[in-house]
Amino acid sequence: MEIVKIYSDKKKLIEKKVQVEGWVRFNRPSKNIGFIELTDGTNLHGIQLIYKAENKEIYNTLSSLPLFSSIVISGILKDGKNDIEILVDKVIEKNETEENFPIGKKEHGLEFLRDNAHLRSKTKMFQSIMKIRSTASFAIHEFFNNEGYSLINTPIITGNDAEGAGESFLVSVKDGTFYDKQATLTVSGQLHAECYAQALKKVYTFGPTFRAENSHTTRHASEFWMVEPEASFTDYNEMMDTGWEMLKFIIKKTLDKNKDELEFLQKNNKKNLIEYLTSIVNSKLKKTSYRDAIKILQEAKKSGTKFENSKIEFGIDLATEHEKYLAGIHFKSPVYIYDYPAEIKSFYMYKNEDGTVRGYDLIVPEIGEIIGGSQREDRFDILTKVIKEKKQDLSELEWYINLRKNGYAKSTGYGLGFERMVMLLTGVENIRDVTAFPRTTGKLNF
Ligand code: 4AD
Ligand code: MG
Repeated sequence: MEIVKIYSDKKKLIEKKVQVEGWVRFNRPSKNIGFIELTDGTNLHGIQLIYKAENKEIYNTLSSLPLFSSIVISGILKDGKNDIEILVDKVIEKNETEENFPIGKKEHGLEFLRDNAHLRSKTKMFQSIMKIRSTASFAIHEFFNNEGYSLINTPIITGNDAEGAGESFLVSVKDGTFYDKQATLTVSGQLHAECYAQALKKVYTFGPTFRAENSHTTRHASEFWMVEPEASFTDYNEMMDTGWEMLKFIIKKTLDKNKDELEFLQKNNKKNLIEYLTSIVNSKLKKTSYRDAIKILQEAKKSGTKFENSKIEFGIDLATEHEKYLAGIHFKSPVYIYDYPAEIKSFYMYKNEDGTVRGYDLIVPEIGEIIGGSQREDRFDILTKVIKEKKQDLSELEWYINLRKNGYAKSTGYGLGFERMVMLLTGVENIRDVTAFPRTTGKLNF
């Protein structure tokens, strides 16, 4: 029986026989009695097993079990002093851990665990992070399903660079001929999603994304997941609201479903995590134009704030330290920045008359950008001109530009970096620690 079920049915099960399976997370034998904390992954704290010296065979078998051995046992469920526990009467199966298992009872540092990514799943820290990641993933599907969006699985192998940033991985086979052109791994499902938003109105794609950005930061991975909704007949103000509602929905679901995990993370990794998440759910959406954001940063500089990237003027690409200042210190909450200079943004964004584009980023304290989106350029001529100016391959994008010739309706979308969302939910500061097997530039382990 799953441990989580034993807890939920405990009233019925007290003094009855139960069978459980799991791994030994802690084993404390003493002279007359021994205790095992058994986990099967279905809840965070597992369940306590008791074995008594009066039953010699069981005592001998269990008292010598090293951590993370797997066992199947049966016993009587007891209403113990602090919580329910099982008095073991039979060991049905066991598979003992070999010596030198690197992970023990005490909580290890995240860095140590990164080198043991095949084993870190066994720690409460990673169980907590992965359970929350799973909740967040489900919440995203639930949110868009509730809002009437259709899920479109956009392709992973593509023939175009959706962001025009040239950061794609090439896909090849040994003799070099498979497709009739160079294929790449997708950097974003946006262009394909736009195509379906022009037919189904509201769509989203949620899948792996690949970027060969050579940046050694705590927020960039070369393989990460992105959620990309796209809605036609929708402008960017409406879509900023949708992004904000989505963010709050994901947080609410996590607060509801993962209390134990959040409490554990709060105790062991980030102080006030629950309060922080709750404050986001209760806060109002904040927005500022890029132009005003620059003014805020200039003021901050004047009053003595030191920025490494100290040239602050209209036209610069905001650095992470700028984003962290804006969200963390100035607004003290997530905030959208919109209407960026066209030069620093992608080709497909709708051009305003003043030379800015209808792009928007949601930035959050400590992490920086978590959502990046825009209203799309719907005018064929302007789009074509910008693509030429940015020296991108027009022929690769022909199918995409031509959507504008076929009754294109104003369309807006965004991408939420899923790992960054999980960083927000868990308070974990390195993207490598919210991914089961992280892919970043350099070593390719596991
Ligand atoms: O801002 P980005 O590049 O936007 C797009 O790709 C658009 N095509 C999305 C759209 O409009 N449909 O990426 C979106 C988000 C970022 O805000 C960030 O959270 C995340 O994806 N992201 C990364 N996360 C981890 N590692 C990386 N290397 C990332 N690059 C972007
Ligand atoms: Mg971006």
